[in-house]
Amino acid sequence: MNKTLVAYYSLTGNTRRVAEAVHEALSGDKDILPLDEVEDLDGYRLVFIGFPVHAHSLPFKVERFITSVKPGAKIALFCTHGSLPGHRLSREALEYAVVLAAKARILGTFCVRGRISLEALDILARSPEHREWTEMAPSAEGHPDTSDLEEARAFARQVKARSDHGER
Ligand SMILES: Cc1cc2nc3c(=O)[nH]c(=O)nc-3n(C[C@H](O)[C@H](O)[C@H](O)COP(=O)(O)O)c2cc1C
Repeated sequence: MNKTLVAYYSLTGNTRRVAEAVHEALSGDKDILPLDEVEDLDGYRLVFIGFPVHAHSLPFKVERFITSVKPGAKIALFCTHGSLPGHRLSREALEYAVVLAAKARILGTFCVRGRISLEALDILARSPEHREWTEMAPSAEGHPDTSDLEEARAFARQVKARSDHGER
């Protein structure tokens, strides 16, 4: 068994595009599936899990999926977010995902910006919980772009090499 799964959750397509780039860069046997369609992780040696940051955290379905991963399983996490790269607001969500996956073997993490429509931003910005990130989000327009997707492919290759060579 040396199959890799790329499982993703995506509402507006940004995380799906990153997931497709990850999948494309992987060598060997591989599948790509929306989270909802994943039935069993037993046949996979490595699982990538991708999600959008929602309200400074993870969508509930993703939270549930990550906590269901068996102890010792090899995984890699990636996310898309509207706030500025490296900012506390996007870091916190990924850090939380890492805590949820603490019993798994995390071989890598990767985050990249993802656009959100101005109409959606306008509505979300009305509630206090969304104010801070929505102020930063207009500059995410155009992301993920070609260089984001190239970085996603490089991330995928690195993680796969770590998995194949038994690192960590
Ligand atoms: C309801 C909602 C809440 C969001 N909350 C955040 C957030 O807290 N921080 C952030 O950086 N981006 C936030 N975003 C922006 C998304 O994370 C970003 O646009 C992401 O790329 C969407 O991915 P998708 O197209 O795969 O659904 C939010 C978007 C939505 C729709």
